Amino acid sequence: MAETINKPTIVILISGRGSNMVSILDAINAGKLPATVAAVISNRPNAAGIKVAQQANIPTAVIDHKSYNSRELFDQAMAKEIDKHSPNLIVLAGFMRILTTEFVEHFSGRLINIHPALLPNFKGLNTHQRAIDAGEKEHGASVHMVTPELDGGPVVLQARVPVLENDTAETLAARVLKQEHKLYPAAIKKLIEDTGN
Ligand code: GRF
Repeated sequence: MAETINKPTIVILISGRGSNMVSILDAINAGKLPATVAAVISNRPNAAGIKVAQQANIPTAVIDHKSYNSRELFDQAMAKEIDKHSPNLIVLAGFMRILTTEFVEHFSGRLINIHPALLPNFKGLNTHQRAIDAGEKEHGASVHMVTPELDGGPVVLQARVPVLENDTAETLAARVLKQEHKLYPAAIKKLIEDTGN
């Protein structure tokens, strides 16, 4: 009897172009990442990544945060939509919302994010300009478990790039983003292998 391998189920949350989502879909389609994307969900109706997911025949949903009177109500609606798929992993990919402790604890151990810096350095926003201003010679990206502390969870995998003499935030961000697109699929694969699901 051929062994039926149940691939882990992923739900991807986006807010914008979704370039990290595309790199995950490409890795799956290339047979490099043994997983299934059950849905792509955005908090912004006009997120370009939603159209890309639809063109790839991936189920999509929009939970517009502007339609909710509080962060808690938005997070509850988002959690309800995610739970429809019972995912093994919820992947934040350019998802630009601060999540409530209740949401994070509801998905504890299954929630990951990609942050454009070498955590624990440069948590928060504007990481590339801050790295340049601090005179860093190296910068990069981190995939980490999401905990209630912003950008504070355990790091799963990192990618490093040099900071060049004449770098601007834009040139450095472009170099980091290129590495993110390799890092995220590799980090998800590592998690699947480490947790065996
Ligand atoms: C990326 O720089 C990522 O590090 C951050 O959001 C940015 C946009 O990601 N989390 P994407 O192109 O929408 O995937």
